[in-house]
Amino acid sequence: MNYNILRNYCLSNAIDLRFNEPMERHTSLKIGGPADIAIFPDEASLSDIIELLRQENIPYLIIGKGTNVLVKDEGIQGAVLFTERMNGIAVKTEEQDVTSKEHTNGNTDEKTVVIQSGCPLQKLLSLSVEHGLSGLEGLVGIPGSVGGAIAGNAGSFGYEIKDVLHTVRLLMADGKIISLSRNEMEFGYRMSNLPLNSFIVGAYISLKCYDRQSVVKKVRNYMREKRLTQPISKSSAGCVFKNPEGTSAGRLIDQAGCKGMREGAIEVSHLHANYFTNKRGGKATDFFRLMDFVVERVKEQFGILLEPEIKIIGRNR
Ligand code: EPU
Repeated sequence: MNYNILRNYCLSNAIDLRFNEPMERHTSLKIGGPADIAIFPDEASLSDIIELLRQENIPYLIIGKGTNVLVKDEGIQGAVLFTERMNGIAVKTEEQDVTSKEHTNGNTDEKTVVIQSGCPLQKLLSLSVEHGLSGLEGLVGIPGSVGGAIAGNAGSFGYEIKDVLHTVRLLMADGKIISLSRNEMEFGYRMSNLPLNSFIVGAYISLKCYDRQSVVKKVRNYMREKRLTQPISKSSAGCVFKNPEGTSAGRLIDQAGCKGMREGAIEVSHLHANYFTNKRGGKATDFFRLMDFVVERVKEQFGILLEPEIKIIGRNR
């Protein structure tokens, strides 16, 4: 494969391009073999880079902060595009909100945050706290990027990101950027129906103007609750399995007696059984074994088949 055109493009546009980049450096689980190519584009270069990859028949995928993924030990074939440089965030000023009703509801008790997809969700949360804006409180402590959170409709404590979403900006397969309003999209439990081969490049988020102290209080309470019930300081990918209808995967795994079970350095958390933590140097192979074991145990005991919530990516052997 000829990487020269790509290399030259990245060089002349100051885009970081790396070969054989270990994915364990880019996932919250700290697991994953090397991606053939890792690229860190800004928004202006994203469609050019995708076009070059297409011309060279190089497969590609896009990753935010790597917090909800399990990358195989075999690594990733082709290119991984990281959104971390696309991290702009701003609250629209009142003048902008009044003059441009396009991305607002024209509501004076709401404010719009303009954000790029690689911005950490927690940066959005901090900004909303700072400005006394309500709507995201329950999402405190979720470590991903805004793009990843929207794509997977991140949720916690009854909050879901779809509920504050006004518009999504998408890079389409033909290289054009389009805007889709919230009601032109569908969201479900940890899912969205983004058009095939489209990528989220940014969004407009609508938040309610509220009493700042009340926002701070709610955020603190949710954070306290999260610390008490989830192993948030350990390396993990969040909840491993989706909650089956009407019940909690964590509770089922716990009741099946799996807490503390281990494969290599991967352990079913004692704090929340739907979290598998990587003590250090864990491998994807061990993670898969532990998943299989847990699925089997829960099926045996409750007749319920757990399905992964995390996204599994990487080359087959
Ligand atoms: N429980 C146990 N043992 C455990 C874990 C939970 O008995 O090991 C019990 C709890 O005591 C509680 C019930 O199960 O009575 C539900 O637990 P929890 O409130 O922790 O909620 P969950 O259904 O396990 C979901 C989301 C979390 C989200 C929390 C809080 C999924 C898969 N999980 O967990 O999201 O933070 O609610 O709202 O939807 C994630 O998506 O990665 C995630 C962590």
